[in-house]
Amino acid sequence: MDKVTTSILKEMKSKGEKITMLTAYDYLMASLLDEAGIDILMVGDSVGNVFLGYDNTLPVTMEDMIHHTAAVARGVKRAMVIGDMPFMSYQASLSEAIRNAGRFLKEAGAVGVKLEGGAAVADTATAIVKSGIPVMGHLGLTPQSIHLLGGYGLQAKDEAQAEMLISDARMLEEAGCFSLVLEKIPSKLARQVTEAVSIPTIGIGAGKYCDGQVLVTPDMLGMFKKFTPKFAKQYAQLGKAINSAASSYIKEVKTQKFPGKEHSFE
Ligand code: KIV
Repeated sequence: MDKVTTSILKEMKSKGEKITMLTAYDYLMASLLDEAGIDILMVGDSVGNVFLGYDNTLPVTMEDMIHHTAAVARGVKRAMVIGDMPFMSYQASLSEAIRNAGRFLKEAGAVGVKLEGGAAVADTATAIVKSGIPVMGHLGLTPQSIHLLGGYGLQAKDEAQAEMLISDARMLEEAGCFSLVLEKIPSKLARQVTEAVSIPTIGIGAGKYCDGQVLVTPDMLGMFKKFTPKFAKQYAQLGKAINSAASSYIKEVKTQKFPGKEHSFE
């Protein structure tokens, strides 16, 4: 089974074959998603929201990310594993950014890293790529800037912001990024960006014209009730299924129905 590489992703874009990406944070889910044939597993800093119980992604640390990325990498045979650089792991200096990006490959077994932002992080992206590390960009809604953005609403709604986003995308391509996440922007703009760059765009809440799609796995499995964005289609209701299984187990233990003979050693 061939591993997914950056050149395979580029080839998929040129052939018009859609790229699939989901988030993963642990060995078990990563192995299930990899078996299903997912192309990219993103160990998102959304781990802070969905697994660690924070209100936003800002408290997530490099140690958290290395721990979760290593677990995901151990579960994968084919998918490309990308580690999300957490807030303040790449903003302070180029050398810190390179060293932290390197940790994802050296200590966690990732293939590349993702960082948020446009022109402001282009030099950082270049420096990381020059160190031999594939970089995925992230434009539109960038949750690490939540306090600057003032909320999780639709981004780049007016023409000036749309032009700025297209220019950011071109800059990240020039910086050497191998792909771009486009989050929560109008579909028409996502289409313009997708046509303006030769690297694959992967949309979340960015419509159907992107070269690929990504969703946060606990959202699409119906497991995370705290935040249910419009774009997060639910493909299962695992939250309900887990609740119902746990209720049945509790009832059977309380009523001494479980364990029965078939689960016991006489
Ligand atoms: O943190 C995350 O899960 C992400 C994906 C939505 C791309 O950035």
